[in-house]
Amino acid sequence: MDKSDSRRLSVAIVDVVEGREDDFRTLATHFEALLIRKEYGRMEVIRDESRPRRFYAVRFWADAAAAARCHGDRETQTLTTQLYQLSRVMHVVNGVRPEGLRLQLDDRRAHVDADRRSGFDRRVQDVGRAEGDRRTGDRRVGARRLRERAGGIDLVAAARRAREHADAPYSEFKVGAALETGSGAVVTGCNIENATYGLTICAERVAMFKALSEGHRVFTRIAIVADTESPTPPCGACRQILWEFGGNLEIELANLTVSKGKHELRNLLPLPFDARLL
Ligand code: THU
Repeated sequence: MDKSDSRRLSVAIVDVVEGREDDFRTLATHFEALLIRKEYGRMEVIRDESRPRRFYAVRFWADAAAAARCHGDRETQTLTTQLYQLSRVMHVVNGVRPEGLRLQLDDRRAHVDADRRSGFDRRVQDVGRAEGDRRTGDRRVGARRLRERAGGIDLVAAARRAREHADAPYSEFKVGAALETGSGAVVTGCNIENATYGLTICAERVAMFKALSEGHRVFTRIAIVADTESPTPPCGACRQILWEFGGNLEIELANLTVSKGKHELRNLLPLPFDARLL
């Protein structure tokens, strides 16, 4: 088999009809099961947090012959017909994944403003005053540009969706967070509790650690959502972590229906301890 054969993939851009997202998810699960069961390959569905109801359906084929067999399969055709009934399939890319490329949504807009350094970089170079005024002037230009863009990212909506995955059987207090990176990608998190209680991790830290582990180092905003009347601000530990890696992030607090206001992290964490003091 040609080596490139095993890296063959197809990407479909799918705009799901309003109100049919759950049906789409179910259908995608059936598709995925079919690909695995018949050894055609596997599938990954990635939500585009910057556009409502847009998904990328990525199919990784076992090889070119498997792709051809799948297209001719009656079961596949039935599922495809159902897919067309609940969505508009915008575009299909058939190609070969370049060697070493990790296909993930966050890399799609992988241009990072050169002048916007993250907390990580600032730990090796002092770029601000010791009193915590870390991001001023032009350092926020990138973020503003993103927010002003027409049809900009609905970070609160992404945090609400992330909250649905919260695993909080002990407190029953579910939290969702959505972190925007300098390249405009959105990385989400939810709180995950543990029977020992102390090992519980908050939504904000899950989002930040996920983002860092995927190579992101520049952050602009975070939205935090809980089902409470009064806003749920990040806990002290999360403030410290967000400051370390995100600097003076804009923090939007919201509940399931409305926004509860925006804050700058430096106002929530006055007189911070950070690498400049070491
Ligand atoms: N929690 C968060 O995830 N983020 C916050 O900002 C506040 C608290 C979680 C931790 C725990 O699972 C539950 O909420 C109750 O404290």
